Amino acid sequence: MSTSEVVSGLAGARRAIQLYPRAHPAYQEAFDSFIAAVHNETALGPFVLNWHQGRLYHDSVVLPEDSHGTASIADAFESRGIESLTLSPTFGQDDAVALAEVLALRPVPDLDVALELSNRQATSVLISVIAKVDEEERQERDRQRQADRAMYHQAIMALSRVRQLLASGGADLSETGGFVSNVMERMFADPAAVMGLATLRGSQDGDLYHSLNVMIYTLALGQRLGLPDEGLVTLGLSALMHDVGKGAFIADDPAQAEPMRLMHPKVGAEILQRVAMDDPAPMLVAYEHHMQPDSGGYPERESTYVAHPYSRMVAIANRYDNLTNPGSAHVPLTPDRAIVRVLQEGGTVLDPFFTRLFANALGVFPVGCLVRLSDHSVGVVVSPGEDPLAPVVRLSFDDRGAEVTEQHDIDLAVGEVRIVEVISPESLNVDVSEKL
Ligand SMILES: [Fe+2]
Ligand SMILES: [Fe+2]
Repeated sequence: MSTSEVVSGLAGARRAIQLYPRAHPAYQEAFDSFIAAVHNETALGPFVLNWHQGRLYHDSVVLPEDSHGTASIADAFESRGIESLTLSPTFGQDDAVALAEVLALRPVPDLDVALELSNRQATSVLISVIAKVDEEERQERDRQRQADRAMYHQAIMALSRVRQLLASGGADLSETGGFVSNVMERMFADPAAVMGLATLRGSQDGDLYHSLNVMIYTLALGQRLGLPDEGLVTLGLSALMHDVGKGAFIADDPAQAEPMRLMHPKVGAEILQRVAMDDPAPMLVAYEHHMQPDSGGYPERESTYVAHPYSRMVAIANRYDNLTNPGSAHVPLTPDRAIVRVLQEGGTVLDPFFTRLFANALGVFPVGCLVRLSDHSVGVVVSPGEDPLAPVVRLSFDDRGAEVTEQHDIDLAVGEVRIVEVISPESLNVDVSEKL
């Protein structure tokens, strides 16, 4: 007797229900051998059968698909949303009939397997079903996602107008205030969703996307630091405006590339100086965000010069976005490698304290990381978990390589599956932001 005999016994009993009248000898024969197999397996305690992604497991051992009845029972579980089945040692004829009957019922969408079992007084059978995401909940989530994307694109457009205004001599940042606090508010409510937005990228206006993404990453750092709301608004605005000086140069003129690189901090500070602000931070950040703690970087300064904390924070977010979104000329680093690089640069190129805090805020596998799991499925990290190694992953491809179109999230904190490697989205032709 073995595990697979319980499964083939169950398959036989289910078939007997469908084929034979109760009085037929084959009917009782099927049930007798099913019950005997269960008794054998429950001699030492309850018998548990789990269904996971098309396969049946007993403990953590997968049942061979070619063994008798396994495929039909796996299908029966799948179509009825059954995740696990527990049979206790008191399992008897009534339980066996009830279970076989319920597995023979048509798997209509509103079939309630647990209720059907309890109606039949099956006391030694316990079934747990996969929680169906409530349709309303799903619609609400979709609605919020659309709203977040709209917010992001409106922010891009507003930023574009503000930069044009500043470039033509204007001195009004008022349009930015609203969306900095909008993004901030959403950041508090759902940090993962906002971090997901930073993986969006337009084919044009790379500079605007860069500014907005640097703001999002900087806010994540500021939030982790525990800055009060007021400080966060100024920090966010500073991050958003850090490259404003680039607007004074012609981006696609190769002759201007080097002057733009070296001069945009100074030019940006001059632009922001015109705008009367209570807080000098945005101007300082524009001026200082390419300064390194080892006295490298630019503009030149006294060796005793210490950059504003916000400048040191923006420098890190700026570096991270440049590493993960380097533009078409360079190969992007996957988010996990970019975090490692930022940590390595802490102390020389970047501020050592803020780099550690930044890594802490984004996690080992930042939101947007495409990962391969130990069961060979592939998915995108959608939110960090308590355990930095066990985030929540949204499946892109199942364990057989088939694309997953329905939203299916796996919380790695639960169960045995873990991350095996991070893969580059290009290698699988996956648009990560589509998943977030
Ligand atoms: Fe810059
Ligand atoms: Fe930048």
